Amino acid sequence: TGAVTFDPGFMNTAATTSAITYIDGDAGILRYRGYPIDQLAEHSSFLEVSYLLIYGNLPSPAELEAFDQKIRRHTLLHEELKGFFNGFPRDAHPMPVLSSAVSALSTFYQDSLDPFDDEQVELSTIRLMAKLPVIAAYAHKKSIGQALLYPDNSMNLVENFMRLCFGLPAEPYELDPDMAKALDLLLILHADHEQNCSTSTVRLVGSSNANMFASISAGINALFGPLHGGANEAVLNMLRQIQSSGTKPEDFMEKVKNKEAGVRLMGFGHRVYKNYDPRARIIKATAHDILGKLGGNDELLDIAMRLEEKALADDYFIERKLYPNVDFYTGLIYKAMGFPEKMFTVLFAIGRLPGWIAQWREMIKDPDTKIGRPRQLYTGELERQYPAR
Ligand code: CMC
Repeated sequence: TGAVTFDPGFMNTAATTSAITYIDGDAGILRYRGYPIDQLAEHSSFLEVSYLLIYGNLPSPAELEAFDQKIRRHTLLHEELKGFFNGFPRDAHPMPVLSSAVSALSTFYQDSLDPFDDEQVELSTIRLMAKLPVIAAYAHKKSIGQALLYPDNSMNLVENFMRLCFGLPAEPYELDPDMAKALDLLLILHADHEQNCSTSTVRLVGSSNANMFASISAGINALFGPLHGGANEAVLNMLRQIQSSGTKPEDFMEKVKNKEAGVRLMGFGHRVYKNYDPRARIIKATAHDILGKLGGNDELLDIAMRLEEKALADDYFIERKLYPNVDFYTGLIYKAMGFPEKMFTVLFAIGRLPGWIAQWREMIKDPDTKIGRPRQLYTGELERQYPAR
């Protein structure tokens, strides 16, 4: 087996080849299937980007229409799956509810889980794209004690999700087009990011030939952590704390730099980007605009901008090449849209879903795929004799 290389956190180990997402972390470049993220953000919809990631090319208008229609036809959850939401405590965080329900999907579709049957993989793809936003909206509705609405298939995926989150049974839902557009943009920016922690988890679980639902459920759990997708919720908590305690952003920065009690500037730093995260650049540019329209909390945005300004001019951050990442400004926008903090990482999961699906499909088709099985350097006792008693 040869010498084992010690590489905690896989800083330098490529575990796969991939043709989906290209990142140049030094230059701050992100491309999906070769298309620069800023061009996709400007011209595409989340549905179109999902198609691009999963199938490899931008869809023709007819292909996009067919994809959209298929997804609309699969939005309903099995009535028994709806009962599942009653089993959680009322204040359950929606992320574990989401991962549990996605895992449970494999109990409802037991006859179509074969990872090597193309038709079944396609069906799971559509089912996940259609049902994950519905599950996410139900997890939210449950936590606030409101009725679960049926999806309205005259609406597209993003519109339907918003209605399921904010609509009420007795009133017609009026969609705010600015909000729908902003959410669509944020989902595009989260749609894939090559071999991050959750995507690597999806691939690792899938490498044992586990089905797509099981693999993506594991990815959702990986995303939950505050160093990964949970950072968007952590950023808002941090800004709130700074605001309510009246701490000056300068003083907070000193705490971060002195590494006091593990305080980090949440929403800053990235394993791959050693330059401004191109997604953060797009979000920052639109944050003002969107918050203006939606009536967001300007004071928190001001604190965020002050922190950023200070950090970008500070030697601690310059030396370590720490820049704002995708999560730094998103929470403020989600909050302005009316989502509670607990839903922020769920929104990330909805955005990342097409990336997870694309990566899982690439993994399963790749002849080089082997079951993931890292090595270790053993540091325990070499051999001990069981004591005579
Ligand atoms: N605030 C203060 N110091 C930091 C930060 C930060 N946000 N991030 C890294 N550092 C310091 C760290 O203390 C270390 O300093 P030193 O060399 O003196 O020990 C140095 O920078 C390198 O950090 P690292 O932890 O070795 O870097 P990493 O590549 O292992 O971690 C990271 C990357 C994203 C986990 C980390 O930057 C971090 O914890 N950031 C805050 C959480 C966050 O915003 N996460 C979202 C990431 S982007 C979206 C996503 O993946 O979900």
